Amino acid sequence: MGCDKVNIEDFLRDCAQRVDQFLEKRLPVGGPVRLQEALRYGVIGGGKKLRASLLFATCEAYNLAQEKLLPLAGAIEMIHSFSLAHDDLPCMDNDDFRRGKPSMHRAFGEAMGVLAGDALLIEGLSLFLTDAQFLHTFGAAKIIEITQLLLAALGVQGMVGGQVWDLEYEKKRVTEEEVRKIYLAKTARFIQFPILSGAILGGADQKEREILGKFGLQLGVCFQAKDDILDVTEESSTLGKTAGKDLEQDKATLIKVKGLQRAQEFMWEEFDQAVTLLSELERPFPRLLAVARLIVERSH
Ligand code: IPE
Ligand code: IPE
Ligand code: MG
Ligand code: MG
Ligand code: MG
Repeated sequence: MGCDKVNIEDFLRDCAQRVDQFLEKRLPVGGPVRLQEALRYGVIGGGKKLRASLLFATCEAYNLAQEKLLPLAGAIEMIHSFSLAHDDLPCMDNDDFRRGKPSMHRAFGEAMGVLAGDALLIEGLSLFLTDAQFLHTFGAAKIIEITQLLLAALGVQGMVGGQVWDLEYEKKRVTEEEVRKIYLAKTARFIQFPILSGAILGGADQKEREILGKFGLQLGVCFQAKDDILDVTEESSTLGKTAGKDLEQDKATLIKVKGLQRAQEFMWEEFDQAVTLLSELERPFPRLLAVARLIVERSH
């Protein structure tokens, strides 16, 4: 199966377009108009939609059509966009730009930055949990299982806990183990989620779940390592968000611990180990591998 660079860029563009089209139709209507506008602003037409693409790519190995997965893919991107709206708030990273435009609170005000974030999370959960077709296709047992996984990836031992550590460790001495702990919680568990949930929906056996779970976490660590590397190496115009912020805020990053070059080496070692893990499985995951490679090779 051909999964070269050109192919994978087409695949990602196509995934992003599908998710956007789906959200156009399915974002909540009713309630305050300004809130509806903020939700659209936060999730449609921006961002790489890498997490949705990881879901589609994993499910391709189980012959699951993207069509059937859209409620979950849309939910994942809404929930990711919630995390960004809050991450950018003045009380957190205080970032004015996101995806090449003013961040949510810069465009809509600080209170809406908080509330639109809340709504993206809640309506995101609702998007797949209240979709009758999705429930019918996959059944209650699998859907409860992936919901439990999702909540764990987001909660105290997941993204929210990780974001607390991210703030607590600002301007502190930090070790490689501590950086890994922060990366795992704030980013990696939610990168693992689309992969693992896709495998569960596809009917993966125990061995596949175990290995894909480990792969997902390692890829998640690579994802945040790459984000931190790009913060140092790229311009704001390329990133669509403010470059050089981690250094300015003295964030706990791998680069702070190891320097840029060793951080890059670390990311590639971690990536190679993740790829080796996948090769232990009989089922091939060419598309997932191609998306994973793009995550470590991307320039924004
Ligand atoms: C940025 O995620 C936040 C991190 C977890 C590092 P992405 O790089 O996926 O952001 P978008 O969705 O493409 O804007
Ligand atoms: C964000 O990490 C992690 C989240 C859970 C949102 P960063 O703070 O490094 O993400 P960017 O660089 O602002 O996108
Ligand atoms: Mg942050
Ligand atoms: Mg940030
Ligand atoms: Mg960053």
